[in-house]
Amino acid sequence: MGPGVRKKSKPGQTFYLLALSCILWLCLVTEISGTLQPTVCTKSRKVFNSSWGIITDGPSGSNYTQDSHCEWLIRAQNSSQVITLKFHTMSTECSYDYVFVYDGESFESPLIGSFSGKSQPQQITATSGAMLILLYSDTNYVLDGFRAEFFVTNCPNNCSDHGMCSLHKCYCQGTWGGRDCGLELCPEGCGKDSHRGECKMNRCHCAAGYSGQACSLHRADQTGNK
Ligand SMILES: *[C@@H]1O[C@H](CO)[C@@H](O)[C@H](O)[C@H]1NC(C)=O
Ligand SMILES: *[C@@H]1O[C@H](CO)[C@@H](O)[C@H](O)[C@H]1NC(C)=O
Ligand SMILES: *[C@@H]1O[C@H](CO)[C@@H](O)[C@H](O)[C@H]1NC(C)=O
Ligand SMILES: *[C@@H]1O[C@H](CO)[C@@H](O)[C@H](O)[C@H]1NC(C)=O
Repeated sequence: MGPGVRKKSKPGQTFYLLALSCILWLCLVTEISGTLQPTVCTKSRKVFNSSWGIITDGPSGSNYTQDSHCEWLIRAQNSSQVITLKFHTMSTECSYDYVFVYDGESFESPLIGSFSGKSQPQQITATSGAMLILLYSDTNYVLDGFRAEFFVTNCPNNCSDHGMCSLHKCYCQGTWGGRDCGLELCPEGCGKDSHRGECKMNRCHCAAGYSGQACSLHRADQTGNK
């Protein structure tokens, strides 16, 4: 009876292990395809509710199709969250083909970016809880398009690693300030070491003859004043 039981339980264990590794493998595959595969332009609207993703008109090196109209809508889980869009590449036909970005779910929402050409746009943020992105191209000439990454955070830019996020508000450390704690309020320590100024109440107070945000400009320094 003993060996029989063992024999019976062994295939069961094997099956269990096999099933487990299958599940793990499936999870891994869906995880990889879900996070690493960028969503391409298909002339329709793609909706995201994830906290991170990549959007692009297509693989790099391949041109977007003529006459494109593609939309990506990113929805935050909580409308108090901030959606940030960061461009990695940008190449559209200057002043004919555009990437439009709206702070909201529709084209009536505030337009927070309209980009065309080859200069890489600055990172932009939507605070309404949704961001709508439109790629529009005319019927001529096409180019490589764009590739951008989005992330959804509780606080703007996760407080730039210079502060604490609480109830969707940044509380900045030290001399960091601004909505996302990305602003150094006393740059270069206001030149304290070279007696140009001092940081007081998160502001530079410059010594006589010095001016500028970091007290780095001197009256006698012609190049600095130009
Ligand atoms: C996100 O979208 C997927 C697919 O549309 C849906 O199954 C899921 O419930 C959504 N998640 C949340 C948290 O809304
Ligand atoms: C993309 O379009 C440009 C200009 O229309 C063309 O010069 C280039 O060869 C195209 N690239 C590919 C991969 O089709
Ligand atoms: C923002 O912070 C959260 C919580 O610490 C973290 O899970 C997330 O990965 C961060 N996102 C970015 C884009 O840094
Ligand atoms: C969104 O965040 C706010 C502030 O943290 C919170 O009061 C509210 O319950 C959240 N809403 C949802 C739907 O989670």
